[in-house]
Amino acid sequence: MKAFVLRSYGSPDRLDLTDLDEPVPGDDEVLVRVGATSINPYDWHNMRGQPYVARLMPGGMGLRGPRHRILGCDIAGRVEVAGQNVTRFGPGDQVYALLPHGGFAEYVSVPQHLLAPKPKNLSCEQAAAVPMAAITALLSLRDQGRLKPGQKVLVNGASGGVGTFAVQLARALGASVTAVCSAPNAELVRAIGGAEVIDYTTTDFTRPEQRYDLLLDIAGGYRPRASRRALKPGGTFVAVGGPAGRWLQPAAHMFAALALAPLVSQRVVMTDTGRCAHKKDNLVTLTEFIEDGKVTPVIGRSYPFADIPAAIRYHEQGHARGKVVVTL
Ligand SMILES: NC(=O)c1ccc[n+]([C@@H]2O[C@H](COP(=O)([O-])OP(=O)(O)OC[C@H]3O[C@@H](n4cnc5c(N)ncnc54)[C@H](OP(=O)(O)O)[C@@H]3O)[C@@H](O)[C@H]2O)c1
Repeated sequence: MKAFVLRSYGSPDRLDLTDLDEPVPGDDEVLVRVGATSINPYDWHNMRGQPYVARLMPGGMGLRGPRHRILGCDIAGRVEVAGQNVTRFGPGDQVYALLPHGGFAEYVSVPQHLLAPKPKNLSCEQAAAVPMAAITALLSLRDQGRLKPGQKVLVNGASGGVGTFAVQLARALGASVTAVCSAPNAELVRAIGGAEVIDYTTTDFTRPEQRYDLLLDIAGGYRPRASRRALKPGGTFVAVGGPAGRWLQPAAHMFAALALAPLVSQRVVMTDTGRCAHKKDNLVTLTEFIEDGKVTPVIGRSYPFADIPAAIRYHEQGHARGKVVVTL
């Protein structure tokens, strides 16, 4: 099979399109023929080994070189072979999953407990846009944010992968959404459920005319201390992401938010999708929203498999509109 193998930490030039043996699924695994994958900041953080501080975290990226050579965490595709203990899936089933790695390949072996049936109304390309970004949005709103119907939510970074799911899910959960994005994306975020739009290039949302019950900080353009001003006294700040850096960011931005928690009246929490133990269950929940027509992936760009390095190069610039997907 063809796969992109990461030679060493660095730029997308370190990804080599290589011929490898197909993986052999274990007893509790299925072999999936990947139909599509998508790009996330998680991929290029692991590609560059940055922020460097993340190399020190237990179970994270390798210290001197990549622990995992095949990147790619979002997949949608078809089951080819099922291991002998697999009861829920058989050859031909259409599935999708959030993996720790391995998606930038024609085939990947996936533990059964990570797989969910692909939403019936989505193509593989659309389904591959969902896992990381939409699970992050769901965890941030429902679990960390404890969102209730009728509440006012501010989504900072509404036009990217996580943001376009967050706007739709917040609205589907009964909230009124104010979306922070730049002017060229204003129409898009209105179309997916943003009741109000703030252009971050001209307006400082941390000096608001109104205050919010929940603030999802996906873009992290302001210090958490300042963003907090946009919250009601009993509101919740959810740190999701922030600008990338070589040494510390976005981890330092998230920890700066958590350091505020004991000092302020608002709840301050962060989302950690990687450590979520119920990835499959969350995909099943998302499938319901998608099949009910309440959530539809927004795909800004699509690349062929051979152009994964170009897709990552584009995504790393930080201005993707919706999701960047890759088809096989
Ligand atoms: N905590 C977790 O478990 C978790 C999981 C997944 C992702 N994340 C993090 O979440 C963040 C977003 O991920 P993503 O996949 O959504 O990234 P993405 O798709 O690359 O987000 C790009 C979007 O961010 C917008 N943006 C950039 N600067 C902004 C600013 N200052 N204010 C408002 N919007 C701004 C861009 O809009 P313009 O083009 O208009 O600038 C673009 O639409 C990343 O930091 C990522 O690491 C965290």
